[in-house]
Amino acid sequence: MTNGDPLSFARDIRPMFTDMDVAHMKIAGIDLSDRNEVMTHADAIYQTVSTGAMPPPSSGETPWTAQMCERFKRWQAADCPE
Ligand code: HEM
Repeated sequence: MTNGDPLSFARDIRPMFTDMDVAHMKIAGIDLSDRNEVMTHADAIYQTVSTGAMPPPSSGETPWTAQMCERFKRWQAADCPE
């Protein structure tokens, strides 16, 4: 994918959330598998992944790379296409 290609939630964003992310965050009140919920909470989600707060280091998961954060930001800036 080049930098100018359109992004889609299903193809480009949803796969960045693991099953563990989705399961744990459903308990915390956000469904990361749902495009509308991710869109609603996009600023907060970006904040947590870009600072490394989420996924929590204690979960054993790998923090998001700068490239993943940039992809998320670009998807948000494009009005969160499905
Ligand atoms: C609006 C943004 C978010 C908020 C307010 C939030 C809040 C929380 C809270 C309160 C917990 C439970 C306490 C804790 O384990 O620290 C939690 C757990 C967790 N969150 Fe988030 N979270 C957010 C986004 C995310 C995102 C985007 C991911 C993944 C990319 C994620 C992955 C996880 C995981 C894997 C756990 C379970 C950790 C464990 O039990 O070891 N969260 N989150």
